[in-house]
Amino acid sequence: MRLVRVSVVAATLAGLLAFPAVGQPQDPDQATRSIELFREAGKVLQHPRCLNCHPAGDRPSQTDTMRPHNPRVVRGPGGHGVAGLPCSACHQVANYEPSGVPGHPKWHLAPVSMAWQGRSLGEICRQLKDPSRNGGLDMPALLRHMSEDTLVGWAWAPGGGRAPAPGTQASFGGVMRAWAETGAYCPPD
Ligand code: HEC
Ligand code: HEC
Repeated sequence: MRLVRVSVVAATLAGLLAFPAVGQPQDPDQATRSIELFREAGKVLQHPRCLNCHPAGDRPSQTDTMRPHNPRVVRGPGGHGVAGLPCSACHQVANYEPSGVPGHPKWHLAPVSMAWQGRSLGEICRQLKDPSRNGGLDMPALLRHMSEDTLVGWAWAPGGGRAPAPGTQASFGGVMRAWAETGAYCPPD
């Protein structure tokens, strides 16, 4: 009997520790499930609609081929472009269908600490969870950002004949939430 009690306590503790755990998975099945969920979310995170605004360099990219932005523009202060050529000079508050130029009131580049281009899914996962690189977001704020932020949401209604990110923002938010609930484990690679 005593042995059983001890293992129940151990299992409960393992469950509690699993959430913020880094490193050693307490429950290998749950860690595997969590990583599978993140790989599923990766189909969105690594889609060109997201990556084009999360470049590693100073320049956004364009189209499904992720070619460098044409005309040449640079991130400038805060990612809004430079004074002579801000993003808002061309990107309006909404998609402009006659020319196919995408738009949103907050259209600008993600900071370098949030660069995803050229990174593995594991690297993206680890930086996403890191408040020193993700804009100071804790897990609830990160989940809200992904499931509710309308700039993120643009990727599912990109206009101009662009391919939208797979699924819906709601389904993406659901996968991210399930990932968090299974311990928010990152792919090792
Ligand atoms: C001089 C006009 C102009 C300026 C300034 C400009 N853009 Fe663009 N941008 C465009 C045009 C035109 C397109 C559409 C090109 C296409 O899809 O073939 C575009 C497309 C994009 C795309 C591609 C979306 C996708 O997934 O295909 C991103 C990302 C982007 N711009 C970001 C920015 C950012 C960030 C800034 C400011 C740093 C900026 N742009 C400034 C004209 C501009
Ligand atoms: C038009 C440019 C643009 C597009 C498109 C875009 N983002 Fe971002 N993203 C940003 C900016 C800018 C930030 C910085 C926070 C802010 O100002 O809202 C950001 C921040 C984030 C963050 C905060 C944490 C971090 O480490 O990156 C997440 C998560 C995120 N974006 C997810 C996405 C996803 C998922 C998509 C595609 C479905 C996407 N973004 C598409 C511009 C963009």
